[in-house]
Amino acid sequence: MDAAEIIGRLAHRDGRNDPYPLYTLAHGLGPVSPVAEGWVLACGYDSVNRVLRNPAFGVDDNDLRRSRFGDVPMPDSLELLGRSMLQSNPPLHTRMRAPVASVFTPRRVAALEPVVAGIVERLLDRIGGLSAGLDAGDGRGVDFIEEFAYQLPVSVICELLGVPEDDRGPFRSLVHDLTQVFEFMSSETDLTAADAAARELRGYFATLAELRRAAPGDDLVTALVQLVDAEDARLDAAELLGNLVLLLVAGFETTTNLLGNGLALLFEHPAVRAALIRQALPVGDFVEEVLRFDSPVQLTSRVALFRGLDVDGVPLPQHGEVILMLGAANRDPARFHDPDRFDPWRADNQPLSFGAGMHYCLGAMLARLEARTAFAALLRRYPAIDAAKGAEPVRQDRLLLRGYASLPVVLG
Ligand code: HEM
Repeated sequence: MDAAEIIGRLAHRDGRNDPYPLYTLAHGLGPVSPVAEGWVLACGYDSVNRVLRNPAFGVDDNDLRRSRFGDVPMPDSLELLGRSMLQSNPPLHTRMRAPVASVFTPRRVAALEPVVAGIVERLLDRIGGLSAGLDAGDGRGVDFIEEFAYQLPVSVICELLGVPEDDRGPFRSLVHDLTQVFEFMSSETDLTAADAAARELRGYFATLAELRRAAPGDDLVTALVQLVDAEDARLDAAELLGNLVLLLVAGFETTTNLLGNGLALLFEHPAVRAALIRQALPVGDFVEEVLRFDSPVQLTSRVALFRGLDVDGVPLPQHGEVILMLGAANRDPARFHDPDRFDPWRADNQPLSFGAGMHYCLGAMLARLEARTAFAALLRRYPAIDAAKGAEPVRQDRLLLRGYASLPVVLG
């Protein structure tokens, strides 16, 4: 099977559901393979890492898209996220990331520790209550994704941003609709729902920004609004909204997936569960291996910004694209011993799940904090938690954002 066929299969339901056999085939072709004219696939750990750290490869920003498609109106979803740091190149990226990073500091994240712990305990109480309310013998259990894995990160990011609790209800489906733009696209891709979600979220944050301008709070929206209004404004109004929506989007679907993928792995590995309960395995090592083994973000891409570039010897024309398979790089046999084995005791585990280089995930520390706190507390409170027998887990039908749509559990 060549690289083009592997990509074709990854774009179909079976490939999305279980991409790992296809990654093994990709590794068999080598760390980097040409797919078609102007299109390259990278699955080797070192190759992916090098491209991410090389500023000659940029993201497909609004300017590059305009140079390819002309000045036609862009779908609202692409336009909105194109105003965020994730889809901007320097110098714009540097100008945008620095102020957001300056209010998203390790100190602010560390200060969130008790907030995260409090939310975790509240959600665990709620799951306990829901579980107790089930009829004895009802094997369908409680949906861990709906009741915990989604609730924790959305609550944390909304606390940080200053989004009132009553406003959060629609976010799960809006963000799910919007993140369709990150998947492989073809001429048949329908962005109607993604565009509608983009308009709604942009409108929501525009209103919230106005409210915080009039009545400042101790939150990220207020801090970013003040940066827009400063004399040496380092963000404009459209960039403010693009980055606020990005923080919401990046802040929870990914972390929801980390929590769901991690719990499913715990069910499959009783020795790991036992070691965590005995505190013979640091919970941080478990989280790191979940990130490697079943990465919540499976891929990203970069565009060659100049002529004459190559990806480890495979030439790429200017504006040609390299698909960077983070999930495959994390299973590279040249980097990880026995890569298809879930082994939280492995040494030197540095997965590429948060990316690398200038776009390295701004929320990595927060996501790790949430996952460590959640798994430690979950196993303390409900050490016998298990998959419900009467209902199957359902995977999200997505390749890029890999996780579960539902994961029914019983508390034992
Ligand atoms: C397990 C959870 C998470 C995973 C796996 C993840 C993964 C990633 C990855 C792979 C990138 C880089 C994409 C690229 O290079 O093209 C990224 C960027 C980003 N992430 Fe995360 N993320 C997670 C959680 C979070 C959280 C909780 C936040 C915020 C609260 C966040 C905010 C961001 C932002 C703002 C960027 C863009 C950085 C830039 O472009 O400079 N992420 N994330």
